[in-house]
Formats: sequence, C-alpha cells, structure tokens
Amino acid sequence: MAEIRTIGVVGLGAMGGGIAQLALEAGYDVVGREVTAELGERAAGRIAHFLARKVEKGQLEPDARDAAVGRLSLTTELEDLAGADLVIEAIMEELAAKLELFAALDGIVRPETILATNTSALSVTEIAAATTRPERVVGMHFFNPAPLMPLVEIVRAELSDDQAVEAAFAVGERMGKHPVRCHDTPGFVVNRVLIPLLNDCIKVLDEARVSPEDLDAAMKHGAGWPMGPCTLVDLVGIDVHVHAAEALYEKLREPRMAPPPRLVAMRNAGLLGRKSGRGFYRYDD
Ligand code: CAA
Repeated sequence: MAEIRTIGVVGLGAMGGGIAQLALEAGYDVVGREVTAELGERAAGRIAHFLARKVEKGQLEPDARDAAVGRLSLTTELEDLAGADLVIEAIMEELAAKLELFAALDGIVRPETILATNTSALSVTEIAAATTRPERVVGMHFFNPAPLMPLVEIVRAELSDDQAVEAAFAVGERMGKHPVRCHDTPGFVVNRVLIPLLNDCIKVLDEARVSPEDLDAAMKHGAGWPMGPCTLVDLVGIDVHVHAAEALYEKLREPRMAPPPRLVAMRNAGLLGRKSGRGFYRYDD
C-alpha cells in the first residue's frame, strides 16, 4: 500500500475544518471540499486564524504556518478528490446523505483509497455498504474541538481490513493524536458513555432546580470536568447532541440514551448552542 500523502476532507464545518487543519499541520496535502466556494473560504479563514494564533504563541514557526496553508486546496467538486489516498468525511449526521456521498466517492477515488467517516453515532458498517470497497472503509471519530482534543477513535467496521485500520491509526498518530482502536458499536467508546451522562446532567437541571451556571460549576469543581455539561453541549451543538442521542436510543433502546425533552425543545426552537449564538448561554462572537 502506497504511503498516504494526500487527504481529502469532505465537509469543512467545525469538525471537518479542524480535521483539515490537523492534516495540514501534520504535513499532508489536503483537498477540502465544501458545497459552496464561500463555505470553503470561510473554513480556510478559520484555519489560517488558528495557525496565526499558534505562531503568535510561539507554538508554530512562521515558515511551517506558510507551508501548511500552502498545502490546502479548496474545491466544490467531489471529482477533485480523485487523487486522494485517504478521504475523511465530516458532513452532516444524516445517514442518507452519507450513503449518497460514499457511493459517489467510491466511483471517483482509486480502488485502494481509504474512505473514513467522522460519524459520531451512525453505523460505519452501514455507510461502508454503500461502496464496492467496504474493506477500505473505517471510522475516524475526532472530538470537538478537533485540533485541541487528543483522542481519535479508529473504528473497525464489519468488513474493514487490517491494513485500512492500521493506516488510519498511523494517520491519527502523525496528526499528534492519541488513537484508540474499537469496533463499530453504537456510540463507539466515548459517546456510549458521554451521551447518557450529558442527558443525566440536563435532567438534573430540572430535578435539582439548579441553574446552568451552577450545574457547570458543580461538575467542574466537584468532578474535575474541564468544562461544565451545559457549556459542552453548547459547544458540541444541541442539534448534534440530540441527533446522536436519538441514534443511540434507536439502536440500544436504553431510556437513558434518549434525548431529554428540554434539549429537543431547544433544538426545535433553533437554540443550537454556540453556532447559533444561543443555547444554554448567549454568544456574541
Ligand atoms: N486550532 C488551534 N487552536 C484553537 C482551535 C483550533 N481549531 N480552537 C481553539 N483554539 C485555541 C483557542 O483560540 C485558545 O487559544 P487563544 O485563546 O490563546 O487564542 C486555545 O485553543 C485554548 O483555548 P482555551 O483557553 O479555551 O483552552 P482550555 O485549556 O480551556 O481547553 C478545551 C479547551 C480543550 C476545549 C477544554 O475545555 C476541554 O477539554 N473541554 C471538553 C471538550 C470535550 O469534552 N469535547 C468532546 C465533546 S464530545 C464530542 O466531540 C463527540 C461527539 O461525537 C459529539
């Protein structure tokens, strides 16, 4: 198997943009695909901003920053991913959209190219079934914010071959992450534990009649969490959390997995957290 040199990233939102940044900093050539040129440019701007901050803080040499920025090319055409050795998908969490994308990518990239999904809660095996190369499909599940969170779950689907899993693991390591191998079970490792835990936290808001500020303070100062659960759900996105919780509930039928009604109501009201400017908290930036 040829060395991985070029990584395609499909979807340059919060997760995809962060993954593209990691790949650039690790020395890969990156082809980033967004549906419009404007969205692509916005992602490139965010990446340039964070790399500039790293230079200001002495964490990155200016030459390395310039080289990283120079390795990014943007496109709106999936066909431009034809030369990629690995494609990481980070589009919206909708199975139908992912199936359509993987089927299309399967017809574009070389037969040995690895296709990875960053899905949080959908089945990698189901996504792989949309392709003629399920043995080359794996999960690479990064955590939000991707450039800062050290973990990446390397997910082996039913038909993934060892070589694809190990190649994805090696890419995670080269990105400076702490990769962990696991099988394709609902929620993989972290979300299987974190989603019901966050659901419990939201229920406690009403049960204990505690404010979001005090709940966050309680979990930070009483349990050592780096950020409180309301701040975390706002960061992840209330729509993303509700979707992941619903997907886990659908598969596992455990009541604790189901999203609390309060979060569903917030999602329906457009209170999505940081990205919409308002969730449990208000955001001006
Ligand atoms: N690239 C580079 N730097 C970035 C960045 C990026 N994309 N995004 C933010 N930064 C920078 C910030 O700008 C900041 O630097 P400056 O202010 O100097 O410019 C720096 O990183 C650190 O910011 P903070 O002071 O906020 O850092 P912190 O020490 O408080 O840590 C944190 C932040 C790592 C996010 C920490 O709060 C934490 O670990 N929180 C928990 C996050 C978590 O649990 N995530 C998992 C969510 S679940 C999930 O993702 C799974 C899923 O499938 C839904």
